[in-house]
Amino acid sequence: MTDNPIEVLDDILYSLKRQRDEGLTGFDCGEEAAARMTEWGKPLRRNPQSLERIRAEMGNCRRCPLCQKRTHIVFGVGNPNAQLVFVGEGPGHEEDRQGEPFVGAAGELLTKIIQAIKLTREQVYIANVVKCRPPNNRNPAPDEIKTCLPFLERQIQAIAPRFIVALGKVSAQTLLGSQVPISKLRGRFHDYGGIRLLPTYHPAYLLRNPSAKRDVWADMQMLMKVYDYDV
Ligand code: URA
Repeated sequence: MTDNPIEVLDDILYSLKRQRDEGLTGFDCGEEAAARMTEWGKPLRRNPQSLERIRAEMGNCRRCPLCQKRTHIVFGVGNPNAQLVFVGEGPGHEEDRQGEPFVGAAGELLTKIIQAIKLTREQVYIANVVKCRPPNNRNPAPDEIKTCLPFLERQIQAIAPRFIVALGKVSAQTLLGSQVPISKLRGRFHDYGGIRLLPTYHPAYLLRNPSAKRDVWADMQMLMKVYDYDV
């Protein structure tokens, strides 16, 4: 429990939005409803730092071996107050060259997905689990993920989005602390510290398996139903 009035308001707002997201239309003050809300836990909104500060702390990062071959740190891009954050795995060749996430072939497809849900890249925030390119586009190693993850967690805390779309296995399994395959994780919302997290297939996977686009579209339609386009 907190005495800080801003945090109290923040908690009330969070609870109301969460009730709306779960389809509740009236305000229920009963014991059962109160017990359910307590179970939701607290939003990840305590003492967030600015994205600039987090980037500054990352500096010219040499915390893991991925620094050796990278050209640019690919921190993240987009709206610092986004309602929706997309999280990929790690930069590829083009992202490493330009210093921006999802600007290669998979990025073009992600941009189309964002447009299909009636948003723009500028309205959302896009980041990755690791900020430096794994050589030859291999998966990031567990140690590399462990070293870099606190920066992503702090980015999410700073933005405090209502939704996260986790793109692909590495992103979904890392954020959910799960070993369940992406094919089983996708298709429903999960809870990430009070934020609704929707796993879906990675755009690079879609380039190799176009038939999976149907599943991603189903996931995006689920998101569109609860996304607040008026904010
Ligand atoms: N794949 C990712 O996971 N992230 C990028 O930024 C680009 C490709």
